[in-house]
Amino acid sequence: MRKLAAGNWKMNGSTAALAEVSALLAAHPAPGCDMLLCPPATLIAPMASAARGSALLIGGQDCHAKASGAHTGDIAAAMLVDAGASHVILGHSERRADHGETDAQVRAKAEAALAAGLIAVVCVGETEGERDRGVTLEVIGAQLAGSVPDAAAAASVVVAYEPVWAIGTGRTPTLPEIAEVHSFIRARLTERFGEDAAGFRLLYGGSVKPSNAAEIFALPHVDGALVGGASLKAADFGAIVAAL
Ligand code: G3P
Repeated sequence: MRKLAAGNWKMNGSTAALAEVSALLAAHPAPGCDMLLCPPATLIAPMASAARGSALLIGGQDCHAKASGAHTGDIAAAMLVDAGASHVILGHSERRADHGETDAQVRAKAEAALAAGLIAVVCVGETEGERDRGVTLEVIGAQLAGSVPDAAAAASVVVAYEPVWAIGTGRTPTLPEIAEVHSFIRARLTERFGEDAAGFRLLYGGSVKPSNAAEIFALPHVDGALVGGASLKAADFGAIVAAL
């Protein structure tokens, strides 16, 4: 399947940072993988405008489970679509930690995203303590069961495996550890969605950089990456795109 290089800008970037998008597109006009950038909400519309006619897809970093209403500060899935997004990251560990998002809430948001026509990038991942206790697969299994909606399909849901302890730390699991979790995710999706599970894209995220991208992407069941810090600079993200 065609791989996906996704960048999560988190709470970084102002309009000046759109210069990075122009540089990325100039350097990679016809990339060998799909490219997605998820900027903060304030930059979705201008980034979508800058990306119009190019290979770059745009996504949000969260959406509300409801379609509209009295929810100050929140954004509905259809609003992301209106601003030019095709994807939305949901259940990122930073939202689970900062906003207490539960699997059930992530699932409800994913259902809203699918209903609005967005592709949901559902994040799962264990903490360092959970890995040390040997319960990684149990945790991932529970998050998958709780967060991925029953209506999910290969065309509408991407699963991102992001070990919490690898995010922004420069540390990554070993290659066999990444492979083990990705095979496990594929197997769990197959139990639930049958043959369609082979088409779900599974991304690895957590300290992906130009120097480790190629070896991670070569692993079975790794269909791309969800990149944080290294997605902010066109040169770094472009090198990761080129490795896919
Ligand atoms: O969503 C991507 C992210 O959490 C990984 O961040 O900075 O470790 O690449 P980073």
